[in-house]
Amino acid sequence: MTHNPPSASDLGPVWIMGAGSVGCYLGGWLAAAGADVSFIGRPRVLETLRRDGLTVSDMKNHQHAIPANALKLFEALPSLELAAASSTPQTPQTPPVQPPALVLLTVKGSGTVQAAKELVAAGLPAGTLVVSFQNGVGNAELAQACAPSLKVLAGMIPYNVADLGHGVFHRGTTGSLMVQDDAQFAPWQAVFNSTQLQLKLVPDLKPVQWGKLLINLNNPVNALSGLTLLQEFSDWYFRRCLAALIEEAMQVLRQAQVPYAQVLAVPPEKFIRVLRLPNFLFKWVGKKMLQIDPKASSSMADDFALGRTTEIESLCGEVVRLAQNNGLQAPRNAAMVRLVQAHTAQGAGPGKWSGKALLKALN
Ligand SMILES: NC(=O)c1ccc[n+]([C@@H]2O[C@H](COP(=O)([O-])OP(=O)(O)OC[C@H]3O[C@@H](n4cnc5c(N)ncnc54)[C@H](OP(=O)(O)O)[C@@H]3O)[C@@H](O)[C@H]2O)c1
Repeated sequence: MTHNPPSASDLGPVWIMGAGSVGCYLGGWLAAAGADVSFIGRPRVLETLRRDGLTVSDMKNHQHAIPANALKLFEALPSLELAAASSTPQTPQTPPVQPPALVLLTVKGSGTVQAAKELVAAGLPAGTLVVSFQNGVGNAELAQACAPSLKVLAGMIPYNVADLGHGVFHRGTTGSLMVQDDAQFAPWQAVFNSTQLQLKLVPDLKPVQWGKLLINLNNPVNALSGLTLLQEFSDWYFRRCLAALIEEAMQVLRQAQVPYAQVLAVPPEKFIRVLRLPNFLFKWVGKKMLQIDPKASSSMADDFALGRTTEIESLCGEVVRLAQNNGLQAPRNAAMVRLVQAHTAQGAGPGKWSGKALLKALN
């Protein structure tokens, strides 16, 4: 006898906690797979979705559009049908909804504590599954500590998602989602894989998170450059900035005996050799290795543009802390933390560094 995998509607509702670039992209494709998705976010994003609907797209020209009137949008956590004693007051604007079977936590690292506490305060049933699709290496643990009644799993999103305006969220690079292998989450894998969200389950996500962090060391380089990823990677100096940060972080990880996994098509050691190639060679070798959409930039560039807190402490700051905790040093990553903090303190806005000046400042 053959068993069909459970469908999205069999598994239950999905909540996107933090409807921004990643949340809208994942939620949009899960809705395309038939899931009942609710988006919880801020007025800045939700007003656009209410006006323009949600469109998710990728560099292979896959696209799915959801009209505004078909979206479930919430500026505060909705009241739960089963939680009569919920601390969230019921108002005519937020009629009660079914509790979620799956919550995707997609706020920036600076919002993890508040978001996790809000989920608990909303009265989610004990054991509700939450997957953190956030960068850095500690957000899932932090959310779990703030929401002990829920079950938080770590996830990893390898690609870039850009908010192109008018409710369009566009994936600009390649890769598969990864989630810590877990029996409660396992049935969801087929739902993700039934749409444009290829997803792998891995027994230990920590090395993957460190491997992803190495690649994310490009976020501050990209943000300070003020360029798209493609323009930034076309500049030999910016590529050498990134190579210097990754090389230093790998040395710290090795000396601290912390394993890191390969997240790109090539190991990070080879990646930094390619980054250091002169432009005429990188054009050919890099093109095969990195498929970057011309529209893509980093999420830290978005933070600069909107004057928001950045995730620098969860990226270069994490390398510096690991170094300090092991009696080591990470001067280039420490310099990058200072440069990003200085830019934010000056009121942010798009970065204006040249690659040459940035490389000098890091060295
Ligand atoms: N964008 C990418 O390409 C990408 C790729 C891979 C991984 N990531 C990682 O994915 C995570 C999310 O990134 P993102 O770029 O999607 O961030 P984002 O666009 O800022 O989206 C998060 C959204 O959640 C909102 N939010 C924060 N706290 C909330 C709360 N308690 N309730 C409801 N909404 C809340 C934020 O509002 P405010 O702005 O008002 O805080 C923001 O609109 C980060 O860890 C990032 O590093 C991003």
